Amino acid sequence: MSVSDAISNKARMLRNQIRHHNYQYHALDDPEVPDAEYDRLMRELLALEEEYPVLISPDSPTQRVGDTPISAFGTVQHELPMLSLGNAFTADELQEFHRRVLDRLELDDDVDLTYAAEPKLDGAAVSLLYEDGVLVRGATRGDGTTGEDITHNVRTIEAIPLKLLGSDYPARLEVRGEVFMPKAGFDAYNDKARAAGEKTFVNPRNAAAGSLRQLDPKLTAERPLDMYAYSVGIARGGHLPSGHSEIIDQLQEWGIKVCPERSVVNGVNGCLKYYKDIGARRDRLSYEIDGVVYKVDSLELQKELGFVSRAPRWAIAHKYPAQEELTEVEAVEFQVGRTGAVTPVARLKPVFVGGVTVSNATLHNIDELHRKDVRVGDTVIVRRAGDVIPEVARVILDRRPQRTRRVQLPKTCPVCDSRVAREAGETVARCTGGLFCAAQRAEALKHFVSRRALDIEGFGAKLIEQLVATDRLKTPADIFQLTREELSELERMGEKSADKLIRSIDASKSTTLARFLFALGIREVGETTAAGIAVHYGKLANVVAATEEELLGITDVGPVVAARIKAFFGEEHNLDVISRLRDYGVNWPESEPVLDAENGPLSGKIFVITGTLPTLTRDEAKDFIQDAGGKVTGTVSRKTDFLVAGESAGSKLSKAEKLNVSVLDEAALRTLVSS
Ligand code: IVH
Repeated sequence: MSVSDAISNKARMLRNQIRHHNYQYHALDDPEVPDAEYDRLMRELLALEEEYPVLISPDSPTQRVGDTPISAFGTVQHELPMLSLGNAFTADELQEFHRRVLDRLELDDDVDLTYAAEPKLDGAAVSLLYEDGVLVRGATRGDGTTGEDITHNVRTIEAIPLKLLGSDYPARLEVRGEVFMPKAGFDAYNDKARAAGEKTFVNPRNAAAGSLRQLDPKLTAERPLDMYAYSVGIARGGHLPSGHSEIIDQLQEWGIKVCPERSVVNGVNGCLKYYKDIGARRDRLSYEIDGVVYKVDSLELQKELGFVSRAPRWAIAHKYPAQEELTEVEAVEFQVGRTGAVTPVARLKPVFVGGVTVSNATLHNIDELHRKDVRVGDTVIVRRAGDVIPEVARVILDRRPQRTRRVQLPKTCPVCDSRVAREAGETVARCTGGLFCAAQRAEALKHFVSRRALDIEGFGAKLIEQLVATDRLKTPADIFQLTREELSELERMGEKSADKLIRSIDASKSTTLARFLFALGIREVGETTAAGIAVHYGKLANVVAATEEELLGITDVGPVVAARIKAFFGEEHNLDVISRLRDYGVNWPESEPVLDAENGPLSGKIFVITGTLPTLTRDEAKDFIQDAGGKVTGTVSRKTDFLVAGESAGSKLSKAEKLNVSVLDEAALRTLVSS
């Protein structure tokens, strides 16, 4: 079959690109593009070669894994090849893998095969050879058949024992695992390098691989490296258990580090649950992962399944969505926030990253923008990890088009044209327009109606922007003068939704002092601070009259916050808005001040906190309870009145349930304090 010139050119181009990235990544330890981009090129080439097999040449990057080892190191022939893993990106692909396994083993559909499940560590694979329990050789994976001798470097890694514990290990034992740089060590290392003006690492995997490839072991020793073992290669002259998970437990007994998050699961459902659990904890793990690995646990079945090209048929990597992607900057705009902060935002060509489509990424502030030097037209790496807002990680300078310009901080507000000012020592530049600025007004109003503030359901951002633009809404008080008639005439608003909105506006009038104080949007006064102030003073009049000194007596209130509160209530127009709000019917129960926490609503009650709460940290929750007079202890007992439990609550929750202790979530705790 003949192939058109266009197609063979395309294949050549892809190969050259992949070779270039291989060189950057393997030989120079300096990757230019995120893994996802590399994977895409590789997949594109594989697809092309699959469709037109005549295109395949022995030197295609698809025909070998990795690159030639660099010559300064000795080479090591792996007696048993070091394999790679097939990937599954979706539950369906995992299901297909499981199907293939069952088919090949001639097992029934309903057999719940046991899999060993482990995080897929993002580091560099190593082979560690122990002879009579003594570490004699360390090697990289290389191309799977030939690796580099890095004995001098692996000996510097404290997680790797120089001698095994016990005596029942095989005379010749090859342990395989992943050397990696934990996130904390990676960050600390990069901070130090940055401060010293030295080169930083792009990601923890690159850091691990680069550190192992030092000629001078002293340099490796300075790197905070760690290792988890995940399999055994050669094992001669001794006995190993018959299941993968048992082998890993055995390795641990011989003193070798293994991953604490490993597990044994049943069938596809067990795998999927594991994938979900680890995914939920991914950001909190101390090391970087890019997926999880499932391995048929029985070695006998593994043997029966065997290999296909370079990957075992009995294992698969189930990948998480990439947290980094490439895209282009279409514009850099400046957004004005509730407090006037002028924040640069990159408008991006939409890209799927971290499991969502991203078209905007924050650039944080003008200093950050200048440090990264992001320009319109640039190709950038966008990062979205967990629930963190997407950000531009860095610019690919090689791809910068000609004639770009450095982005400057605007001198005037893009919304109201007021001067933009930056106080000495502040990183944030602010619009000086205050509530004259429509953007600040709209943001203040969005905050006022938000769920944790007055909670006016159905009052969306678009609606607020529309009403601010026509000057119908100038302050929060104006919300309560809106009529059904005028609302129903607005764009995208029927009579039904107008009715509904009026009802939620009415319902929001009965609130709590804590919510009301938070809704006012006083700078630095978050939900917890507002709640603390509300309990302490009981009545709004007391808060308005409080001196800075008194305010400082409340936990959570420092000099900056006290000054902001004082300044807010010192402004006549703010007091006007408050009195109008009360005139229109906004109300809350007032109570006697709890000037000392002993008389607080929680006084005499004993609390225990466990798990991750949605908004409060452990310390904040503790302060919050103590401010209201409660006591916080560490262990659940019969004396405990309430367990405040968040996500991933463990043994404390089961103990509380056993002892019939009331369990609260964060919302219930807040209700308890304000009622
Ligand atoms: S098992 C026969 N388990 O992923 C299977 N590999 O794509 C061989 N990796 O080179 C590997 N975590 O560097 C296995 N828990 C884990 C792993 C893991 C990370 C890496 C390893 C390997 C690559 C395969």
